Amino acid sequence: MSYPYQITSMDQYEMAYRVSVTNPEEYWASVAQHFSWRKKWEKVLEWNFKEPNVKWFQGAKLNITENCLDRHLGEKGDQPAIIWEPNDPSENSRILTYKKLHQRVCQFAQVLRNNGVKKGDRVCIYMGMIPELAIAVLATARIGAIHSVIFGGFSAQSIADRLEDAQATFIVTCDGAFRGGKDIPLKSVIDDALIGNKTIKRVIVYTRTRTAVSMIKGRDVWWEDEMLKVTEGPGNPVNVVAEVMDAEDPLFILYTSGSTGKPKGVVHSCAGYMIWTTYTFVNVFQYNPGDIHFCTADIGWITGHSYIVYGPLSAGATSLMFEGIPTWPDAGRFWDIVDKHKVNILYTAPTAIRSLMGFGLDPLKGKNLSSLKILGTVGEPINEEAWHWYDEHIGKKKCPIVDTWWQTETGGVLISNLAGVTPAKPSWATLPMPGVQPILVDENGREVTQKDEDGLLKGNLCIKAPWPSILRTTYGDHERCRKNYFATYENLYFTGDGALKDDNGFYRITGRVDDVLNVSGHRIGTAEVENALNMHAGVVESAVVGYPHNIKGQGIYAYVIFSGNKKDEELTRKDILSTVSRVIGPIAKPDKIQFVNGLPKTRSGKIMRRILRKIAEGETENLGDISTLLDPGVVEEIKNGKL
Ligand code: PRX
Repeated sequence: MSYPYQITSMDQYEMAYRVSVTNPEEYWASVAQHFSWRKKWEKVLEWNFKEPNVKWFQGAKLNITENCLDRHLGEKGDQPAIIWEPNDPSENSRILTYKKLHQRVCQFAQVLRNNGVKKGDRVCIYMGMIPELAIAVLATARIGAIHSVIFGGFSAQSIADRLEDAQATFIVTCDGAFRGGKDIPLKSVIDDALIGNKTIKRVIVYTRTRTAVSMIKGRDVWWEDEMLKVTEGPGNPVNVVAEVMDAEDPLFILYTSGSTGKPKGVVHSCAGYMIWTTYTFVNVFQYNPGDIHFCTADIGWITGHSYIVYGPLSAGATSLMFEGIPTWPDAGRFWDIVDKHKVNILYTAPTAIRSLMGFGLDPLKGKNLSSLKILGTVGEPINEEAWHWYDEHIGKKKCPIVDTWWQTETGGVLISNLAGVTPAKPSWATLPMPGVQPILVDENGREVTQKDEDGLLKGNLCIKAPWPSILRTTYGDHERCRKNYFATYENLYFTGDGALKDDNGFYRITGRVDDVLNVSGHRIGTAEVENALNMHAGVVESAVVGYPHNIKGQGIYAYVIFSGNKKDEELTRKDILSTVSRVIGPIAKPDKIQFVNGLPKTRSGKIMRRILRKIAEGETENLGDISTLLDPGVVEEIKNGKL
């Protein structure tokens, strides 16, 4: 059977959903016909959540870059694949057509090979948002190596930990990166990360900011020099034949925070990830040929992997990549970009919308925005006020808004309305994608069936069966993957999120129910921040919780027991913050640090975070039962010292 690949009506959605859950193998085999394979699969799906073991399209052979590039060269060779908008609006934008991008990817793939990179090697990519980042990602995939992109805001220590965990052997970086008014010295951060590193054989450096860099003999080479060695020219095009990959071969590792102190390397595989990112891109955003898609995320996060690079390119779309930030040189920058490049689909984070709302309507004066057809949000719950502002002032009430819920581990969107096809509801992610079977469970893993006083079901969000781009493992530690996602509730994938469900079957994601914070759409583990705080010489102990923040969604509130001399409290705070920056990166810096003499602990020594969370949220009365505390007196002191 063949089913419509692009769903264009509610009836089609319902039909697709039904088939996808009753006969997933037939449904996904039909979707898979829309891709280019070196060899077709023998078996569509094999799975159990016990180990877990999930395999899609076993026996199939492919290379994802042939789907993202080669297959478009005929009809779309001269169409822009990537439009790049620089940080500084006075610099020229760049356009890479599919032909050009294919050529550059092949050239750099050859550079990687010349430098000794082989199939299965881990290549760490630490670059700013320039086309060469996408080129490095695709070139790595082309030769069957595994990329691990690290967001430019992470510190040397974080990079060192990730290099070690992935046993990476190659790095691709830049001298520096421009972000707003800042110039971030990426290569120098890499140099610090490499002190003591024994696995890295080669660092390839692209020149972007012309910051001074120290090139180490025998280890560091310039991107530009290496590219020149790979001759190209009329009659001599470089065409690096893509490595033939098994469907289940790993495509990339992406580190993300969990409730433990150490980030996990989420592993995605070639075929399932390709199918899911492309299928969801086409359906959620209702992509039409010629549309210009602007996803404002950074490629250092999963959103950039899936909806700047792989999904749009595999669909043959034009993907706009922006180097800078929404508020520089002024808060009208996104809108200027939309007008300049006639953007049709805009996909951004609620935190960006809230921050731009804060500038009022002035930055929108003189902006046309009429090219926009579809708007999207991702990364955190969107509050109704921000949703309506986006709808009214950006979409002019003409553009469907998709609220897309998903995670690094899910590879692509799992719950979202399909733009203009299935209904939207402000601040609700609404319906599951075909193939996605959500279930709300209580703490004991029993399905929630009792509605609350608002007539809604409320529980912990799990998924019953695998979709093609579910994570396959956590790098180097499969048991960790099992424990984290598949052991909390038997035979279910546990998302870590809480959710509500209404009578229409719509889902609203309410936020994390574990010790993970969502700060400006970035995932940060409280344990990670505590580890970093505790590294400061004067910090005896710390406890970190989230609190509601107008722009960031959640802010980081740290309670710190400090033993050293803190005559100047502000300076001590700054010292502690710079420790966190060094250990994790500036994104993990607490917004508030309260010095305390003790933390509320049970007799067994466990910190009662529930109490700390309530105090950070401004609650002083209903703190719940504190009689089990070792020293209930600390609570009063903490309440009195609240910032
Ligand atoms: O809590 C959910 C929130 O972001 C978490 C996943 O973070 P990360 O892996 O960094 O991926 C972010 C981009 C996909 C989820 O567990 N989240 C993501 N999208 C939404 C959301 N919360 C509410 N609504 C969303 N649309």
